[in-house]
Amino acid sequence: MGASRQLDGKVAIVTGGAAGLGRSICDAFVEAGAAIVVADLDEAAGSRAAVELGEQARFHRTDVTSEGDLKSCIDACLESFGRLDCVVNNAGIVGPWGPITEIDPDGVEQMFRVNVFGPLLGIKHAVPALTASGGGSIVNISGTAAESVRGSALQIGYNLSKAAVNQLTRCAAYELGPSGIRVNAIAPGFMAAPVLPKKFGLSDAQTEAALPGLRAFFKTLQPLSVTGEPEDIAKMAVFLASDDSRFVTGQIHTVDGGMMLDYAGLSTDEWLVGISRALGVDSDTPPP
Ligand SMILES: NC(=O)c1ccc[n+]([C@@H]2O[C@H](COP(=O)([O-])OP(=O)(O)OC[C@H]3O[C@@H](n4cnc5c(N)ncnc54)[C@H](O)[C@@H]3O)[C@@H](O)[C@H]2O)c1
Repeated sequence: MGASRQLDGKVAIVTGGAAGLGRSICDAFVEAGAAIVVADLDEAAGSRAAVELGEQARFHRTDVTSEGDLKSCIDACLESFGRLDCVVNNAGIVGPWGPITEIDPDGVEQMFRVNVFGPLLGIKHAVPALTASGGGSIVNISGTAAESVRGSALQIGYNLSKAAVNQLTRCAAYELGPSGIRVNAIAPGFMAAPVLPKKFGLSDAQTEAALPGLRAFFKTLQPLSVTGEPEDIAKMAVFLASDDSRFVTGQIHTVDGGMMLDYAGLSTDEWLVGISRALGVDSDTPPP
């Protein structure tokens, strides 16, 4: 059996699987042999994804801030595929940007509900099903924002949420290890993904047009001269979901082309100017 079938026989739930990194993770899991449930708020994109992914995939409309939704998603997974081996807690939002003196507590609270309570409750409700399968793997999608400060200071709420995801990963790994459940996080660096251009108000067409400029800018931030693509995160997720990583737990796996070695030494202002130039938008004001 080749390396491309690392997940044969495994069943996974991917939250936020309808778009972006989550969609790439779904593609890679199905290609590696897994059956998956795409758990997402977006019914149109989620249903489309499940059709495109084929008979090994189902869509379940899920808001990760709702315990009821998470429970029914796991029930639907068990009903369709009879077991659960892996949960990828990927759904996340960027939330409000700006200086700490202007922080919008409601916006930050809503972001925490998605980015922190989503994975926390996802783990809570997945544990019985994972235990019944004899153990399993939980993969939380964190971010380099959990550790970096200089370039991303204006996203303080988001940074805090990802720092919480890292500590959730360690605590859950410690508690669930004896049950045979491994818990790891992936911290992606900057990806050539639509979420950032959209945050700056670009349309779908403008986003597509801006991606090459974004790739060129990101390359200047890291020692490796390749740009991070969603597939790079998906490959790490496949490894962490597979038995190849059976001795790996409680770790934050940074996938960033080496950016965190120095974060390119950019100040917040320099970062904002660089990204605005790459996207062709005004750099005077950060996005809301
Ligand atoms: N794209 C990047 O550069 C990058 C970098 C570091 C970390 N991340 C993290 O990766 C994850 C995915 O980011 P992305 O860029 O692919 O985002 P995205 O906006 O492209 O996709 C997010 C998906 O999550 C879904 N979603 C949002 N709120 C939800 C909820 N409450 N319940 C269920 N689904 C919900 C959306 O409908 C969407 O399909 C996030 O946790 C993000 O913080 C992304």
